Amino acid sequence: MMSDLDNFLLYVPIFSDLPEETISKIAKVGNRKTYKKDNVILMEEEDGSAMFVIISGKVKIARTSNDGREVILSILSESAFFGEMSLLDGLSRSATVIALEDSEVYIIQRAQFLELIYDHPEISVALLTELTQRLRQADMKIKALSLKDAEGKVATVILEIANDVGKIKQGVVEIEKLPLQQDLANMAGTSRETISRTLHSFAKKGLIELEGSKLRIMNYEKFKETYV
Ligand code: CMP
Repeated sequence: MMSDLDNFLLYVPIFSDLPEETISKIAKVGNRKTYKKDNVILMEEEDGSAMFVIISGKVKIARTSNDGREVILSILSESAFFGEMSLLDGLSRSATVIALEDSEVYIIQRAQFLELIYDHPEISVALLTELTQRLRQADMKIKALSLKDAEGKVATVILEIANDVGKIKQGVVEIEKLPLQQDLANMAGTSRETISRTLHSFAKKGLIELEGSKLRIMNYEKFKETYV
């Protein structure tokens, strides 16, 4: 019998090429844990002993400067994983992970995770694919932060979120729930005021539509071409 957890794990991209009996095995080696909105799941610089798969909710991956400013490296949602880096290279946690909303995670300890990778090379390939995508996204971010003006930085962040959670319909991409403006600012390496001003300027030009926390990119391809 497949449990709810088995059913969930079947659709997690790093596990999706595995046979059902392996999924059932994975469903037995870990633990589920819930975190309230704003709770810290793991801290930059700590030793890492486990990796996490998001069952539900959203987390932000962030680093902070000594004076308390924050840069958000990424926002991850359902089915994504984190905490694998320190298990793979043996160094401390590379970033802090905080729940952006009430979230549930599936936690796999280091020994079990490494055993899974050794026993099932499909997991390594899927892991490499995802890590490659994260590197591409990080490269895009480096380019935006170092070479682009405010519009380019804000557009890059909107596109990053659209790639992650956007739904496309006839060329229009809808983001159901945009992160808070301060979080957008910390993703784009700019101020909250710049985010607010730039979003309104995009809306005035008809490039996007804003409706509460909903955002629509009216012509996704053109927007991408103009700003990436
Ligand atoms: P680890 O270093 O163990 O703990 C922090 C986690 O944040 C890290 O593993 C990755 O899973 C995740 N992480 C770090 N940098 C990024 C990034 N640029 N994009 C997405 N996830 C990241």
